[in-house]
Amino acid sequence: MPRHFLTGEELDRDQLLALLERAHELKAAPGSSSALAGKSVALIFEKPSTRTRLSYEVGVTELGGHAVVLRPGEMQLSRGESIADTARILSGQVAAVGVRTGPDSLIEELAGEGSIPVFNMLTELHHPSQAIADLMTLQEAFPDRPLDELRLAYVGDGNNVARSLAIVGSIAGLDVVVASPAGYELEAEAGGERSSDPLVAVAGADAVYTDVWVSMGDEQTADARRAALAPFRIDGELLALANSGAVALHCLPAHPGEEITAEVLYGPSQKIWDQAENRRHAQKALLEWLLEVG
Ligand code: CP
Repeated sequence: MPRHFLTGEELDRDQLLALLERAHELKAAPGSSSALAGKSVALIFEKPSTRTRLSYEVGVTELGGHAVVLRPGEMQLSRGESIADTARILSGQVAAVGVRTGPDSLIEELAGEGSIPVFNMLTELHHPSQAIADLMTLQEAFPDRPLDELRLAYVGDGNNVARSLAIVGSIAGLDVVVASPAGYELEAEAGGERSSDPLVAVAGADAVYTDVWVSMGDEQTADARRAALAPFRIDGELLALANSGAVALHCLPAHPGEEITAEVLYGPSQKIWDQAENRRHAQKALLEWLLEVG
C-alpha cells in the first residue's frame, strides 16, 4: 500500500518529528539528496498557487526528479474522464501525485483508485503541506523549546489552514488555540482549543497566526467575512499581548491592512517569509517519506 498525505493524520508523532528533523537537514544542505533521481512527480493545480507550486516544483528538481505540472484545462478530467481512470494512468507514469483542488473527496478517490502516493497541496478542508512548514518554522524560531512546550494562537477564519494546524500541531503536541467569530469557528474535532476572543487567545501564546479572510471560493461572501473578522486582525497591539518574543505567522498571500497590518507582516517579530521558504524544505522531507527513499 502506498503512503498518502491527505490530512496529515497519516503521520504519527515519531514520523512527524523525524520528517521535521529531515527538513532541517535538507535546508542546511539543499543539494544533498537525490532521492527522486529517475522519478517523476505530477502536480495537479485546479486552483491558483504561488508558494505551493514553486516549492513543490523546485523541491522535486532539487531531489533529482522531474515535476510535471498539470492544470485542469489540460487534462481529460475536464472532459469527463473519471478520477479512477486518471488514477490508473498517473500510477503507470509517475511516482507520486500532488493535487490542489476543491473537494477532499477527489484526492481520497484518487488515493483509493491509484497505486502511488497522493499528497494534498490544498483542498477545501485541509492544507497539511502548509502545516508541516509551519511547525518547522516554529522549531527554527524556538530552537531551545520542543513543539510540545509551545502555544500557537490562530486568529481568524476557522478554515483549511486552521484545521491543518490544529490536526498536525496536535500530533506534534503543540498547544493550538483557534479564535474565530461566530459563524467562522473551526469544529472541535480538529483538535486544540477554541475561543471567540482574540485577546484571550493570544495571552500566553508563543506564535500568533492568521490567514486571509476571503479564501479562494469565498468571494461571494467577502463583505460579510470582512465585517465579522475585523476584530480578529493581527496588529502590533494584539501581538504585544502574546508572550515576550512571540512570533507572527501567516501562510500567505497576505492582504496588509486587512487580516494583518503591514507593521506586523514586515516587522521584526514576523517569521512569515521564513515560513514561505520552509515550504520547500519540509515538502522535500515529505516526498522522501511518501516514497520511502532518502
Ligand atoms: N500558502 C499557500 O498555499 O500559498 P499559495 O496559494 O501561493 O500556494
